[in-house]
Amino acid sequence: MSPSVSSPFVGALKTLKRPDLFIADAFVAGQWVSPTSTFPVYEPSTGQVLGSVANMTRDDFVTAIKSADKGYRAYSTSTTAHERSALLRKWYDLIMQNKEDIATILVLENGKTYAEAVGEVAYAASFVSWFSEEASRAYGDVIPSSMPNTTVMTMKQPVGVCGIITPWNFPAAMITRKIAPALAVGCSVVIKPPSETPYTAAALVKLAVEAGLPADVIQLLPTKDREAATEICTSPIVKKVSFTGSTKVGIHLSKLAMGTMKKVSMELGGNAPFIVFEDANIDLAVQGAMVCKFRCSGQTCVCANRIFVQKSVAKEFTAKLVAEVEKLKVGYGLDKETTQGPLVNRNGVEKVKQHIEDALAKGARLETGGGVPKDVDPSGFFILPSVLSGVTTDMMVASDETFGPLAPIFEFETEEEAISMANNTEFGLAGYFFSTNIGRCLRVASALECGLVGVNTGKISAAESPFGGVKQSGVGREGSMYGLAEYYVIKAVTIGNTNA
Ligand code: SIN
Repeated sequence: MSPSVSSPFVGALKTLKRPDLFIADAFVAGQWVSPTSTFPVYEPSTGQVLGSVANMTRDDFVTAIKSADKGYRAYSTSTTAHERSALLRKWYDLIMQNKEDIATILVLENGKTYAEAVGEVAYAASFVSWFSEEASRAYGDVIPSSMPNTTVMTMKQPVGVCGIITPWNFPAAMITRKIAPALAVGCSVVIKPPSETPYTAAALVKLAVEAGLPADVIQLLPTKDREAATEICTSPIVKKVSFTGSTKVGIHLSKLAMGTMKKVSMELGGNAPFIVFEDANIDLAVQGAMVCKFRCSGQTCVCANRIFVQKSVAKEFTAKLVAEVEKLKVGYGLDKETTQGPLVNRNGVEKVKQHIEDALAKGARLETGGGVPKDVDPSGFFILPSVLSGVTTDMMVASDETFGPLAPIFEFETEEEAISMANNTEFGLAGYFFSTNIGRCLRVASALECGLVGVNTGKISAAESPFGGVKQSGVGREGSMYGLAEYYVIKAVTIGNTNA
């Protein structure tokens, strides 16, 4: 299907060096397929339709899963770890060669700024490069046996066909973080990209096949049909499901996957605390808050959701944070001066507004922001970056992930109180704190109930660092040396009677 594109975006798409990377089709059984049914994808800064993308059915998923099973059997047995490593390296090179085009496509469907999009493409590619190196490191063990004349050894083997369900906030990086380790160990993948951002996924798949990946080892099926996507979690052929998204959906998918005892990785919701102690370097803390609160316009699972500041420094921190927030320039992601893009959809904007209104009604103060910026398309999904002070634990922002550019400031008196407030949530993905006291740094890092802790930094995501949560923020780890383990199974081989 030649992509149907709405006129306002033709100009931006004309800048692509490789227009063939803008693909509206699905990739099933080694072919780009254009079904009759499509769904619209919106451009967030205007709210207009960017294009129409293949809407795949449950039958299409059945076909793709069968093809991926065939692909897995050949790929896992006919390639060496070194060949898979070389293939991933080639894919990495192709992603980096085309990073400007992928970034442009990403801005058009997600809304984030071009600079952030280029950064995301490099972040996405870093997982491919990392796992191309890890491909050769899936060592087994030789274990001293308790029985005479016996050797016990382990082999790490690919789990099989993997179902990959990804979110819209990182349309490139969340795909590579999941599929690079899968492909490194010899699995095949069936990807359901987010319906908000399917174009970036298609560009990545096209480049993977160009890099030499056997075509049936990777399948891409955009859909709006939740029933169709559940085939990934119920098909007995699929052996592993990896999902990033909300806790509610993650629990639902995990229950479905347990019906056939699949391995699961779930990277789910967060409610990240960000604590500023009175012994912190306040300028550094403000810088950290800007990075981890306003990245992707506040739409990441690891964004600070609750900012706790010790009473004695609350005024200073608030004033400095407000000054930085007021420097942000909200607008169209492809405009060079924009530092904050729109949110991905109208619901996102409504949620931020609801959190602000609820907090103000319960006594919080709006320090800056709160409305829609001037000089933007009123049909776009924009909201000003906002700061609230005087926030208390009875307000919605205390327990509900805002997923938008709102920084709510709570005050505390003691370290014990800060830790108790920080841990008072069913979530446990990321947590941050700022302090110059080494004893406190070690104590608080250990006490926070999170999978990821940033100490004196707001930047914690990297290919080499394990990413994942505790409590209801999920199970499993992505990236790092641990990310590979999610895609293999350990087989114990006992060789007996070695004296016979
Ligand atoms: C996410 O929001 O799910 C991922 C954020 C990251 O990788 O830093």
